Amino acid sequence: MAGRPMLEGKVAVVTGAGGGIGRAIALAMARAGAKVLVNDLGVSVSGEGGSASPAEETKALIEKEAGVAAVNADSVSEWHSARRIMQSALDAFGRIDIVVNNAGILRDVIFHRMSPEDWLAVIDVHLNGSFFVSRAAAEHFRKQESGAYVHMTSTSGLIGNFGQANYAAAKLGIAALSKSIALDMQRFHVRSNCISPFAWSRMTGSIPAETPEQQARVARIREMTPEKNAPMAVFLASDAAQNVSGQIFATRHNEIFVMSQSRPLRGIHRAEGWTPEQIGEYAMPALASSFVPLERSGEVFSWDPV
Ligand code: NAI
Repeated sequence: MAGRPMLEGKVAVVTGAGGGIGRAIALAMARAGAKVLVNDLGVSVSGEGGSASPAEETKALIEKEAGVAAVNADSVSEWHSARRIMQSALDAFGRIDIVVNNAGILRDVIFHRMSPEDWLAVIDVHLNGSFFVSRAAAEHFRKQESGAYVHMTSTSGLIGNFGQANYAAAKLGIAALSKSIALDMQRFHVRSNCISPFAWSRMTGSIPAETPEQQARVARIREMTPEKNAPMAVFLASDAAQNVSGQIFATRHNEIFVMSQSRPLRGIHRAEGWTPEQIGEYAMPALASSFVPLERSGEVFSWDPV
């Protein structure tokens, strides 16, 4: 169906858009007609170093396709620098319509060895960064009575994973942040949704590929490119999604899922109240059939991407 490009006239800020999923989203949004502020610090997977060139490369790719882009190399993880990211978009394009909180780092380590630095670095970029960047845009969204947030969460937080207490806590926190923004800003016609993406990227490049079976599997998983997550981000950012807010979508190769959010599963009531002993005797046996198994993301998404 040919029509007007879905994001025509809009300005998008995409954080961490110097590579991976962020770059794919920035390119897709530019193709959909948005002017894009490409933010990236150009750091390693663990958040070290820093280079302006990944963001510049994304800008060049957008311009090669006759799209419009500007770059910014401030960090999402501090209040003042997050405000500079928004200011860059305003300076370049005069408005902001879309914020994609995508910047991220990993510091995977088993819980009993996780250092305060590993914890804080990951919380700062993902959870605090998503708040700082969202908050900096919120004033503009309120005044113009429109705006769309798209945040990247992860099944590591929504479901579970080994060695990622920092990342999982940040990502589940982002889901709650998104829901809170959706509730608080609905009155200003501002929407907020999460994508739980799957992609072969430098963050997932460490899956072992030694045996022929493993190699074949990795070859299949490699087809799950970052680009596969971009159409959902474009849709959620567009006016076509005006009735969609406070939701979490998982995108995995050619699959799309709406994810559950926490609700009471089963209740039990005792008019006299409970002693700890009675909880053990009556409540736990009654509730046990609704317990959520201690599973990891890979056990719930137990089939290879389709
Ligand atoms: P990536 O490592 O390729 O890209 C992340 C980008 O964020 C990098 O270019 C990095 O320079 C930038 N960045 C890091 N710290 C920053 C900061 N303080 N300020 C600005 N930019 C910063 O990662 P990938 O795989 O593309 O992931 C993108 C998002 O999707 C992340 O939020 C990640 O947690 C999430 N995600 C990815 C999954 C996957 O399968 N690749 C699965 C679930 C979630």
